[in-house]
Amino acid sequence: MNLTPFLGKPRLYPCLLFVAFITFTTIFSGHNLIYILRQQFDHTQQEVEQPKQQHPRSEKEKDVTLPFSGGEIGGGCNIFEGRWVFEKESRPLYDEGECPYIQPQLTCQAYGRPDKEYQQRRWQPHSCSLPSFNATSMWERLRGKRMMFVGDSLNRNQFASLICLLHSVIPESAKSMQTVNSIIVFRAEEYNATIEFYWAPFLVESNADNAVVHRIQDRIVRIGSIKKHAQHWKGVDILVFNTYLWWLTGFKMKILRGSFKDKKLDIIEMETEEAYHMALKKMVKWVEKNVDPQKSRVFFVTMSPSHSTSMDWGGEAGGNCYNQTTPIEDPRYWGSSSSKSMMVVIGKVLSNTKVPITLLNITQLSEYRKDAHSSIYKKQWNPLTPQQLANPVTYADCIHWCLPGLPDTWNELLYTKLLFP
Ligand SMILES: *[C@@H]1O[C@H](CO)[C@@H](O)[C@H](O)[C@H]1NC(C)=O
Ligand SMILES: *[C@@H]1O[C@H](CO)[C@@H](O)[C@H](O)[C@H]1NC(C)=O
Ligand SMILES: *[C@@H]1O[C@H](CO)[C@@H](O)[C@H](O)[C@H]1NC(C)=O
Ligand SMILES: *[C@@H]1O[C@H](CO)[C@@H](O)[C@H](O)[C@H]1NC(C)=O
Repeated sequence: MNLTPFLGKPRLYPCLLFVAFITFTTIFSGHNLIYILRQQFDHTQQEVEQPKQQHPRSEKEKDVTLPFSGGEIGGGCNIFEGRWVFEKESRPLYDEGECPYIQPQLTCQAYGRPDKEYQQRRWQPHSCSLPSFNATSMWERLRGKRMMFVGDSLNRNQFASLICLLHSVIPESAKSMQTVNSIIVFRAEEYNATIEFYWAPFLVESNADNAVVHRIQDRIVRIGSIKKHAQHWKGVDILVFNTYLWWLTGFKMKILRGSFKDKKLDIIEMETEEAYHMALKKMVKWVEKNVDPQKSRVFFVTMSPSHSTSMDWGGEAGGNCYNQTTPIEDPRYWGSSSSKSMMVVIGKVLSNTKVPITLLNITQLSEYRKDAHSSIYKKQWNPLTPQQLANPVTYADCIHWCLPGLPDTWNELLYTKLLFP
């Protein structure tokens, strides 16, 4: 793993009032997320013996064989370094209209987005090509298994994308989507498999844990406590974690030392990086104690960047992702929304864990995609004021991503790391 530390002073951007606003509006409406509920059907189980193919992972981990793998892409290719290629013929991988599982915050065409090029870009690593995504092949690996995404709304964005990539090969009567408390479960009967999303924006316990009702201000994190959430992940075969956006408060983090039930909360303040470090450590400790590396895989998805300030990429003052239709060309572009100091923390904590945690380093490739956000083309939960309507920049969502779109690539990378590590 490349652990070259970034140069420059660690900074977190206080510009995040805007982030707070968007996150709030998006998350607050989470209860509307699942509008398709289906009954499960009795279904006979098709028993097919899966050959157990195993291949070494990389030079460094030759002695470790990872479950689910079926080959190698070889050459030590870093699939996260590459460029975007416009390719109308092979993209998107599905149509917006034929995937009923996309939240209305992400169905950009349905809400009037005029351009489609953002759907037609393929990620091309510099030194290899990604295997093409094969839904049947993925289901075969998932047979009898549970896969779970754990994290915030961006992880839910990726979860929805994966369901869209996978659902079409399952007949209508043999799939279902249900929400139970903090968990959304997609079930494919004939494979006896589930793909789930669990809301835990800090991974550890916090006062933002209710998927529907939570305040965005005054975030309080109980870093020492992960069990309350983790009891729901135990025994899951493939875990995909993320956590980042909620740490960006622009202030020091408020850390709870006792319990949320205490009469008087015992709260201390801590630098964000330090708190983030402790939370990731807590997650790693849990994984090392509870995950069997012979049976399970664990992934961690790095920061999803936002595009709230067009001056970052040399655009006009006052602009953001609104009206952006092309990616950023500068290969070194990083912008101001993804903290390099937080990436350094991720590198430190996730290298050399006792149970392998595979990094999905999607930050750089996503930084280029200022064209791929939901922007103003999404369901608005509150009526827009005339002032807002007159200036769309003020209400563009530059955090989440249209589907089909960028998160499909994150899943192609996940698929690659899962099947061809
Ligand atoms: C997808 O995978 C299935 C099962 O592994 C295989 O039968 C099929 O030929 C593959 N499809 C393509 C297009 O490669
Ligand atoms: C279905 O999968 C679950 C694990 O998710 C497993 O415990 C159960 O035995 C499986 N059922 C059948 C009929 O294969
Ligand atoms: C959108 O961008 C184009 C140039 O790319 C510009 O001509 C147009 O005025 C912009 N529209 C708005 C509403 O900002
Ligand atoms: C993720 O990728 C970026 C850009 O390629 C790199 O600078 C960074 O160090 C990587 N992060 C980790 C934790 O390896």
